[in-house]
Amino acid sequence: MVHSRGLLTLAVTLLTAGPAALADETTTINPSANFGTWEGWGTSLAWWAKAFGTQTALADVFFTRNTVTVNGHALPGLGLNVIRYNAGASSTNKDPDGATMVVSPSIKASRQIDTFWLDWTSTDPNSTSWSWTVDANQRNMMSLAIARGANLVELFSNSPVWWMCYNLNPSGSTDGSSDNLESWNWDQHAVYLANVAQYAATHWGVKFTSVEAFNEPSATYWVGPTGTQEGCHFDVSTMSNVIPFLRSELNSRGLTSTIVSASDEETYDLAVSTFGSLTSTALADIARVNVHGYQYGGGRRDTLYSNVSGKGKKLWNSEYGEGDATGASLVSNLMLDFVWLHPTAWVYWQVLDVAGWGLITADNDAKTIGAPSQKYFVLAQFTRHIRPGMRIIDGGSSYTVSAYDATAKKLVIVAVNTAAAQIINFDLSRFTTPGVNGALVQRWATQIGTSGTQYTAFNDTFISGTKFWSNFGQNVIMTFEVSGVVI
Ligand SMILES: *[C@@H]1O[C@H](CO)[C@@H](O)[C@H](O)[C@H]1NC(C)=O
Ligand SMILES: *[C@@H]1O[C@H](CO)[C@@H](O)[C@H](O)[C@H]1NC(C)=O
Ligand SMILES: *[C@@H]1O[C@H](CO)[C@@H](O)[C@H](O)[C@H]1NC(C)=O
Repeated sequence: MVHSRGLLTLAVTLLTAGPAALADETTTINPSANFGTWEGWGTSLAWWAKAFGTQTALADVFFTRNTVTVNGHALPGLGLNVIRYNAGASSTNKDPDGATMVVSPSIKASRQIDTFWLDWTSTDPNSTSWSWTVDANQRNMMSLAIARGANLVELFSNSPVWWMCYNLNPSGSTDGSSDNLESWNWDQHAVYLANVAQYAATHWGVKFTSVEAFNEPSATYWVGPTGTQEGCHFDVSTMSNVIPFLRSELNSRGLTSTIVSASDEETYDLAVSTFGSLTSTALADIARVNVHGYQYGGGRRDTLYSNVSGKGKKLWNSEYGEGDATGASLVSNLMLDFVWLHPTAWVYWQVLDVAGWGLITADNDAKTIGAPSQKYFVLAQFTRHIRPGMRIIDGGSSYTVSAYDATAKKLVIVAVNTAAAQIINFDLSRFTTPGVNGALVQRWATQIGTSGTQYTAFNDTFISGTKFWSNFGQNVIMTFEVSGVVI
């Protein structure tokens, strides 16, 4: 998927920083590009935080860059600063008509998130229609994350509260392809999210950056009777009705600087389609487009970027996940995102999850934690080095990502080699000052696969004139930090 190269000689594989004449590949970093200021890396909370939200070591490993021991493994903290808090849709109380939530037989309790709004009797968050003691674990992990530096916090919904749904089932409508939010509850869904945002500001010290009312809303797989999680289909026309209510309910509570994001579609192509179909009123209320990365190697990332940036809005990849524990899929799709989508934040779905999906394997039902995968270390190659405030520039190839820290005059390069082992040259000749000749370039390496090097640091690479180079084994990802660089 990334780049392909021919075979190389044995002599080259034995070099660590050999003469440039033997180089196989060169990428020229282009500092004149500006794909925006990086906002951060993150994770959604929801299920894993409901299961493990009291464990401070997990907050340390995900939300700091310290070395943290988890289940006997000393890990480099990921330093995530974006969290997505899931406003739940589930409760066990009766509604004023005596009805109770309809529960899909396939949903695990660990995937039901408690709602704060128990019934429609009152919109007043101080009334007994509201319970602010529920969802303690997810709220606790949110607080732990913020205390460690998470500064971008999104409130998101997977489904409206069950009693706002036609079939009272927060896993989706009965056919999956029709709206489940009752039309007379469009504003109530907005009231729910706005009240949570306001209560969080006044009682939890949490200022949500953004609020998102939908999750993969154009999908037709949110089928209540067979659902395995909270989910809800929304027609685009319904999105266009709900978004202005959300903007207005936030405003009326004084939350004018809390932005509305939408629509968290599953794929880049659905995001393009939804973005092009929302009413101009709804579009004007959206400050950021969130898209999920489940189209993997497919889809028109470039069209979405051009549409969204053309309207002056931000763009996040707000949810990505897959079951490839090697990190190969993650790095391939992240490279595509950096080259074509240009998000300013990137959010992994569940950092703790079943083997493959989790960066660290975990069982939310048995409440057990296993080992980190190579994918954990592959992601660390990005998250620990491309930091909030850096300018994303052009790495010059499909296998290179680059960011620049103007304050520290530091250049960060993350590159992957999927071909046979080879030297890759990094040409810095387009910088005004390409570092100091002979100066150290720190590097870190991780083997993509089922085992091997895990975020190992080396001080063996040096600037030579206007370039440096490194010998990459096959399926190795490396990060470089170059000091004294001026654009
Ligand atoms: C809820 O009660 C608090 C404290 O008594 C008060 O400050 C707040 O305004 C009330 N909220 C509403 C929506 O009435
Ligand atoms: C999105 O971009 C495509 C390709 O550039 C363009 O044809 C289309 O009109 C754009 N749509 C919107 C809503 O900006
Ligand atoms: C590399 O050098 C830097 C700067 O002197 C130092 O902080 C770091 O610990 C060194 N790393 C290794 C792996 O030796």
